[in-house]
Amino acid sequence: MSTDPLSSSSASSDPLTDHAYDGIQEYDNPLPGWWKWFFVISIIFSVFYWVFFHFGASGRTMFDLLSADEAALAQKQYGTLGTLAQDRATLVRFMKDNDWVSYGKSIYRTNCQSCHGPDGGGLVGLNLCDSKWKNVKHIEDIMKVINNGANNNAMPAWKQRFSDPRDVIMVSAYVATLLGTKPANPKSDDVSRIEIASWDADIAELPADAISPKSDKAADKPAGKAADKK
Ligand code: HEC
Repeated sequence: MSTDPLSSSSASSDPLTDHAYDGIQEYDNPLPGWWKWFFVISIIFSVFYWVFFHFGASGRTMFDLLSADEAALAQKQYGTLGTLAQDRATLVRFMKDNDWVSYGKSIYRTNCQSCHGPDGGGLVGLNLCDSKWKNVKHIEDIMKVINNGANNNAMPAWKQRFSDPRDVIMVSAYVATLLGTKPANPKSDDVSRIEIASWDADIAELPADAISPKSDKAADKPAGKAADKK
């Protein structure tokens, strides 16, 4: 009986290479030419790819494209609203506008609920629904805390993170509406010492015409349902 497996009937008809190691032989079965060329070309391509994205003009990476898209979205969202002052009157105006408050809520859902809970009851972050506050004395301080953060960035600063500074106003408007609501799992904030049961006192100090929708473009509506932010 032959011990040469190649002589068995199942053996391939491919030619053999002319070497053998310890009696082990090898078929001469090279990769197809198109495959090798594809391999070589992909290596050459990778050099151009690397240069294009890492040393080329800015604005080419996926991150750049994403921020450009986000800026365009914010532009579309805010339409003709123009620049807005981050002051009490502006905040109160938008707080009284349900469409902008729900836009603020979508910003909250994406960026804040991981720490403050889905309904503001507090997790790592403080309870935003109860009357106990730590960094906030007046309603406009909400924007300051969001912009600048608090407690060594335990509360992150959002000023540079939002693609549009108006996002701070809208998310603050939503946060302001949470005061006095009943979250499912309220956290008790024993660090918080400032007592604010409602914003009425702050609002009462504003001249009446400062918060009427006519006095600026607060009547402009967000463009459709607010899209998710990063
Ligand atoms: C990484 C967790 C985290 C995230 C995300 C976060 N916060 Fe906070 N936030 C905190 C912590 C912690 C505090 C308390 C800081 C302190 O002790 O002074 C806080 C405090 C606050 C306060 C002040 C509360 C008070 O009583 O003084 C407001 C308002 C607030 N956050 C709003 C927001 C909003 C709006 C967002 C989303 C844009 C957000 N936070 C995202 C952790 C977070």
